[in-house]
Amino acid sequence: MAPRIPISAGNWKMNLDNEAADDLCHALLLPDDDAIHQVEGVQVVLAPGFLQIERVRDHFAGTGVGVAGQNMHARDSGAFTGEVSPAQLAEVASWVILGHSERRQYFCEDDGALNGKVTAALAHGLRPILCVGETTQERQADRTTAVLTRQVRQALDGIDLPHDFVIAYEPLWAIGSGQAATAEQAQAAAAVIRGLVRDAAGNDVADGCRILYGGSVKPDNAGEFAAQTDIDGALVGGAALDDQNFLAITRAVAGSDQGR
Ligand code: PGA
Repeated sequence: MAPRIPISAGNWKMNLDNEAADDLCHALLLPDDDAIHQVEGVQVVLAPGFLQIERVRDHFAGTGVGVAGQNMHARDSGAFTGEVSPAQLAEVASWVILGHSERRQYFCEDDGALNGKVTAALAHGLRPILCVGETTQERQADRTTAVLTRQVRQALDGIDLPHDFVIAYEPLWAIGSGQAATAEQAQAAAAVIRGLVRDAAGNDVADGCRILYGGSVKPDNAGEFAAQTDIDGALVGGAALDDQNFLAITRAVAGSDQGR
């Protein structure tokens, strides 16, 4: 089995104006010999707001840092006011976050809709980061595995998955709360997810699938998550808005922070 290259993904959500986005890009790119793209053994992905995608892409041109949309519509074109199509997104980005819990919670995205979005993203050459995760109530009711099973099965039903597909486990109670899951909780959920991918798509896809943890990832806990058998990186919200924090997380995800 080829080793899975870990991913350090920053979700900027609805933050940063153009100037602040430029400042953050400059800070991540400098100093030259210590820039984010110099960290070896990790794929970095940045997900700015739609209006900043092109400028972020231009800042990182030629570095290997990927740029992602935070969402997209499933249809190629049409009368869908306010939406961005996969074809439009693919002109400026190569990745897309799908099914983030804030999309599910505030914009009524369900697993069926996500199945269409994953299908459309892959058809347009975009690399989806599919987000799944349970609420506090679901965890307390011991329903975490049932929820992950429904989310993964329905979102991936009937889709021919690439061998390096990406899923992010993001328990809702850990997002933006400062209360991350424990490494054991995250590993247990990631193992469930990998098992579901194995059932749905076979051993090659399951062994190659990168599973990220997201929810209050910080420089001091990123390494512990990344060291878990079934966790292959981090999806970072708040801490990705600070260059030093995101650099430190990226180094920890790459396993190259030892001795610093
Ligand atoms: P957080 O957000 O790191 O601020 O908890 C994670 C996410 O929403 O992806």
